[in-house]
Amino acid sequence: MEVIITKNKQEAENVTARIIEAQLLKKKDSLLGLATGRTMENVYRQLIQLHKENNLDFSSSSTVNLDEYVGLSGEHCQSYRYYMNDKLFNHVNIKPENTKLPDGMAADIPLECQKYEDFIKNYGGIDLQLLGIGTDGHIGFNEPGSSLASRTRIKTLTRETVEQNGPIFGDNDQVPRHALTMGGGTIMDAHKVILLATGSSKAQIIADAVEGPITAWVTASILQMHPSATIVVDEEAATELKNYDYYKWAYDNKPDWQQLY
Ligand code: F6R
Repeated sequence: MEVIITKNKQEAENVTARIIEAQLLKKKDSLLGLATGRTMENVYRQLIQLHKENNLDFSSSSTVNLDEYVGLSGEHCQSYRYYMNDKLFNHVNIKPENTKLPDGMAADIPLECQKYEDFIKNYGGIDLQLLGIGTDGHIGFNEPGSSLASRTRIKTLTRETVEQNGPIFGDNDQVPRHALTMGGGTIMDAHKVILLATGSSKAQIIADAVEGPITAWVTASILQMHPSATIVVDEEAATELKNYDYYKWAYDNKPDWQQLY
């Protein structure tokens, strides 16, 4: 695991956007795994800027998102399809047909989940998976106790997640209770993963995920087993890390022959 600690939130978002840019420059037809949530909003703004100002090209790339609420159509302003169109896809030159999210309106949910897994596998896997983290340690909607080997499936959201997302919906009762989400096994199969966390509310869970035991009760801890995982945190999200000095030292002493990101 590589832990990159940046001096502030903006720099953490910038580093994350640059890693995605580097992936697209290396492989134009990358399959990018994407996440939603407040943490990602500025990352997508930066990608739009890189597209407009540096001609960052999305035309050959494809995307799969981690998750989608069950029961919300893509037109619903709180659906993750709506979020992705609004925050990224409508502003870059990606082909709409190359952007995929699990269909939360599917009549046959197990079939929809299997088709999602098959699509990723047939593509050759996810080249770079972007992740946020919930305050309960979830990645995607893999709530505490989720099997670390799970694949795309339906999950019941925890009360904590419903409450975390309540303000976005206006009221907790409006938050769907179920989502379709890639599983821990799906995420672990990605060739590279990058997790971004900013702000003091994520400090304890970042320490648990990065330095605590690998456990289904902190699903992000599974990334300790990933051969190529980068954790990008700002100073506020890094305050509980015991090995803080080493991460800084390792980044400052990164060999020149290694790419910056
Ligand atoms: C959403 C997702 C979630 C979020 C997490 C953090 O697609 O994968 O795991 O990344 O809930 O959300 P924010 O960024 O709003 O704190």
